[in-house]
Amino acid sequence: MNLFDVYPLFNINIVKGFGCTVWDDKGTSYLDLYGGHAVISIGHGHPYYIKKVNAQLQQLGFYSNSVINPLQQQLAKKLGKASGYDDYQLFLVNSGAEANENCLKLASFKTGRKRILSASRAFHGRTSLAVEVTDNPQIVAPINDNHHVTFLPLNDLELWEKELAKGDVCACIIECIQGVGGIRMATKAFAQGLQAACKRYGTILICDEIQCGYGRSGKFFAHEWLDIKPDLISVAKGIANGFPMGGVLISPDFKAVYGQLGTTFGGNHLACAAALAVLDVLEAEKLIENACVIGDYLLTELAQMQLSGKHIVEVRGRGLMIGIELDIPHKDVRERLIDHHYIFTGCASTNILRLLPPLCLRKDEADRFLSALAEVLKA
Ligand SMILES: Cc1ncc(COP(=O)(O)O)c(C=O)c1O
Repeated sequence: MNLFDVYPLFNINIVKGFGCTVWDDKGTSYLDLYGGHAVISIGHGHPYYIKKVNAQLQQLGFYSNSVINPLQQQLAKKLGKASGYDDYQLFLVNSGAEANENCLKLASFKTGRKRILSASRAFHGRTSLAVEVTDNPQIVAPINDNHHVTFLPLNDLELWEKELAKGDVCACIIECIQGVGGIRMATKAFAQGLQAACKRYGTILICDEIQCGYGRSGKFFAHEWLDIKPDLISVAKGIANGFPMGGVLISPDFKAVYGQLGTTFGGNHLACAAALAVLDVLEAEKLIENACVIGDYLLTELAQMQLSGKHIVEVRGRGLMIGIELDIPHKDVRERLIDHHYIFTGCASTNILRLLPPLCLRKDEADRFLSALAEVLKA
C-alpha cells in the first residue's frame, strides 16, 4: 500500500528531539523554529513529560468516557487556574478541528441559529464545519459548502456589526492572531467591539486559540492581549506537546446535556497525563514568560533587520508566534535555512516565514536564527 500523497515533504527523517533541537536519521541536528507546526510547547523530549506519560502508560493508557476519569478533573482544575478561566467548563477532544466543530455545534444548539461569521484568511481545521469556516475554497469539498458562513475582513468592525444586526448569526469565530493566514492580528478595538456586538445580538463569540494559545503569544491566551472574554475557546496543538488532544473551554452560561456531545478517545488517560505534565512544566519553567521575553527580543531584532537589510517587508506577531513577510518567495529562503544553517521554519502564503518554536527557545538559539536569516537574505 502507498501513502495517500497529500503532503509536500522535505526529504528529512526526524528521529530524535530535545528542547528546540531535532536530529535526523543521519545524526544531523536542526534548530526547530517550527515546533512541528506549533505543537511542541514545552520542548522535545522533556524528561518530566516522558516520566509522567510513561508512568501513566504503565498504569492505564485508555478507558472510555463511560467511567469517572480523575485525570480529566485534575486537568480541568489546573487549566482553569493557569488560564484564569476557573469558572468555565472543559470538554476534551482529539484535535483542533474537532474542538472547533464542537464550539460551532454548541453555539448552534444554544442559539437555535445556523449562520456563522468568520474572518477572511481564517483557518479553523478540516472537518465539516471547521473547514466551512476556513477561508480557502480549495479545501472545502462541495459537501461541506453549506452556505452557513459569511467571511469578513478581520478588524472591519462595521461590516461584522452590520451582519450581526440581522439577528440570525449563531457564532463569530476568530483567531486573535491568524496563523495560516500569515500572522495577522486582531486589534483591541475590533475584538472589544465584536464582543459587545455579539452580546447585543445574542451571538456566541468563539476564540480559536489552537495555534496562538497555550502560552505561545506570551500570555496564556492571545485574546488576553485584547481584554476580551469569549464564550467558547478552542485549544489543541501545544496542550499535550505532541500527544493528539484538543479541548473546548465553555462559559458557565452553557448547560451540559447528557449525550449532546461525545467522543471515544477524547480526554483519555494518557492524553490527560501528557496535558497535566505540560501545564506543570509551563509553570515550573516559566515558559510563557520566556515566550514573551524571547519573542520581544526576536521582534525587535527583526524590525531592525527590516530597516537595515533587504527583503523584509513587515514583521508581525506576539511572543513566539512571528511572521516575517518578504518581498521574495519563502521557498528558497526556507530551503537555504535548512540546507546551509540547519534551521527549520514554518511558512504562510507564498512569501511569509512563520516562526512557531517551542516556548523554551533560548536567546542564543534566537541569535543563531537571526544571523542565519541575515546571511540568507543577503545572499
Ligand atoms: C488556528 C487553527 N485552528 C484549527 C486548526 C486545526 O487543528 P488540527 O489540525 O489539530 O485539526 C489549526 C491547525 O493548524 C489552526 O492553526
